[in-house]
Amino acid sequence: MRLDWLAGRGQPLRGRIRVPGDKSVSHRAIMLGSLAEGVTRVRGFLEGEDTRATARCFAQMGVRIDAPSAGERIVHGVGLHGLKASSAPLDCGNAGTAMRLLVGLLSAQRFESTLIGDESLTRRPMARVIDPLSEMGAQIESAEGKRPPLRVLPVSKLHGRRFRPPVASAQVKSALLLAGLYAEGETWVSEVHPTRDYTESMLSALGLEILRDGDSVGVRGGGRLVARDIDVPTDFSSAAFFLVAASVIEGSDLIIEDVGLNPRRTGLLDTLLDMGASIERLNVRQVGADELADLHVRAATLHGIDVPLARVPDMIDEFPALFVAAAAAEGATVVRGAAELRVKESDRIAVMATALKAMGVHLDERPDGAVIQGGTRWQAASVDSHGDHRCAMSLSIAAQFADEVSTIRDCRNVDTSFPGYRDLVLGAGMNVQAVEAG
Ligand code: S3P
Repeated sequence: MRLDWLAGRGQPLRGRIRVPGDKSVSHRAIMLGSLAEGVTRVRGFLEGEDTRATARCFAQMGVRIDAPSAGERIVHGVGLHGLKASSAPLDCGNAGTAMRLLVGLLSAQRFESTLIGDESLTRRPMARVIDPLSEMGAQIESAEGKRPPLRVLPVSKLHGRRFRPPVASAQVKSALLLAGLYAEGETWVSEVHPTRDYTESMLSALGLEILRDGDSVGVRGGGRLVARDIDVPTDFSSAAFFLVAASVIEGSDLIIEDVGLNPRRTGLLDTLLDMGASIERLNVRQVGADELADLHVRAATLHGIDVPLARVPDMIDEFPALFVAAAAAEGATVVRGAAELRVKESDRIAVMATALKAMGVHLDERPDGAVIQGGTRWQAASVDSHGDHRCAMSLSIAAQFADEVSTIRDCRNVDTSFPGYRDLVLGAGMNVQAVEAG
């Protein structure tokens, strides 16, 4: 059954909150823990549908993964060559990260696998991983347009290559590095813009030598991974909704605790500061590879900006929330160079443009972004998130500005990345109710 939200004017956001574990790190902790020799304890694991799907896929391939408590996993690694064929297809659900990283890893195995996903994932482009992996010798069959389901055939050998993917994508880089763990020689990826580096830093923490040369990162085949416990930081992309909500809802004064501040993730923080937000970093500390801080956000008058092109990959998941901040700001905000938004869990430019326009926002959609006018005279509307978790959460913030209650359709997928979102926002002061719908 579909789940809709009814959201309307609430209170300013107040108090202290902490968001769940990082999705990107949780996926990789299960994957690399499974490939390591020994037992990995993962703490702070995101109990989201996406990351649970990854854990289920590895369990299907013979990896024992215990869940002694919420947010904890004990992964009994099988080593790089210990995975077994799954008798059933591996269902990645809504998770692009699961499917793209898995296809890299599975393309080097001596058994066949089938990867499937939900309706949204089945529409997403896989050529970006299929093409370079095929150059390494992988054999991958796909549906029309190189889309899922994917059938990954066994091969006896992959060959290391050098790649420069045309889009900045951590998923593509990671898929190639995972395949490279098994390939003859070295596999290198150079990036048009640096992207989140969790795969290479976790591989390095598990004892693998990471090769570097300028803006290129590489691995040599034939190594091994040694288990080591992994602490997952909280997810900046989840904190992002609170950064925006507390910045734009008058009277808000909120502390978000323990936010992971990997510079490849925090583009939205810089953008909000450029727009005039009041966000202070408190208690900044280094925990392992991660810088953490408590972020103190107070409502402020924001003004529109031209988002710097080079910052786009560092805030790629945060544009739906930024669109709402921009609509609540004074003046225009210009987003360019973000065509990737059209191939996320939904076409995020179109979904946000349609919904925000219905709520009174003046917005010009562009192929690679949008021009969003601030100073909105908000009105309640019935809008559709198209099952996109980040659009649903962003629209729930927009709905706080209207006098009447808005309906946001199809919000169940919020559980893919942010289980407990509604409880947290309700506790902080926002007004978001859930209703089962036809
Ligand atoms: C992710 C990389 C990004 C991001 C996604 C998670 C990852 O995707 O949008 O939510 O964990 O590697 P792209 O690699 O497609 O940019």
